[in-house]
Amino acid sequence: MSGFLTARDVRRDFQIGDRTLSVLKGIDLEVSPGEVVAIVGPSGAGKSTLLHILGLLDRPTSGVVSFLGKPYSDHSDAERARMRNSVFSFIFQFYHLLPELTALENAVLPKMISHGAVEWMIGRREARRRAIELLERMGMEKRLKHVPGALSGGERQRVAIARALITNPDIVFCDEPTGNLDTVTSQEIQDLLWSIAEERKTAFVMVTHEPSLAKRAHRVVRMVDGLIVDGGMTARAEVAGGGVGKP
Ligand SMILES: Nc1ncnc2c1ncn2[C@@H]1O[C@H](COP(=O)(O)OP(=O)(O)OP(=O)(O)O)[C@@H](O)[C@H]1O
Ligand SMILES: [Mg+2]
Repeated sequence: MSGFLTARDVRRDFQIGDRTLSVLKGIDLEVSPGEVVAIVGPSGAGKSTLLHILGLLDRPTSGVVSFLGKPYSDHSDAERARMRNSVFSFIFQFYHLLPELTALENAVLPKMISHGAVEWMIGRREARRRAIELLERMGMEKRLKHVPGALSGGERQRVAIARALITNPDIVFCDEPTGNLDTVTSQEIQDLLWSIAEERKTAFVMVTHEPSLAKRAHRVVRMVDGLIVDGGMTARAEVAGGGVGKP
């Protein structure tokens, strides 16, 4: 299906003093529902910059990003925040958990933010139940009350994954989700991400330097120096005129 997530001629310049640094130089990308896409390429290629633009953490200098056919790069800040908290979510290399909150509280946080005060009073119990269910699913049932400082790297990333899934997003953006973990833990987290992608048909767009992770993706997008050199379009989109899809 085309038009799920698309980027068209996306460019991003940074102004450094009187110099303009062109970091993204015209990106065309499509992602389909339930697709797991790995973005690979050398350091400085613009992978994180692209992920931030797709996930509404940054705006392109020019070009269009759309979700379900609707451009969202020009949305108001309020609308962008709403999307970031409902249809999209993020998993980062360094977890970005709040240190003073427990695993359970961290996981439930996006729900708390997206609800108004009254809604939260009503929905709180259900949100907690869902966070507990997600954390248990990840083998974290004995760690619900631990703060991040009392958790291992792999455990912290499991909390971050639960937090990313609590809103039931359509797309999860991951920036080197296993980059800070040892090989065995990385493998466990990869297994977890893959089983979630399969179970829920959530799309994952993952920036990674790990060949083992890229190898498992449905598609590998290769970036070099601000451009996609391979894999930007879905198989279907590459068939002229939409075509009949995969053989
Ligand atoms: N806010 C910014 N201001 C200026 N330059 C920036 C900014 N953000 C990124 N850059 C530059 O853009 C280029 C691409 O950065 P980006 O973080 O997207 O690379 P990357 O492909 O994710 O690299 P890595 O694999 O090392 O994480 C780099 O040269 C970086 O210095
Ligand atoms: Mg990066």
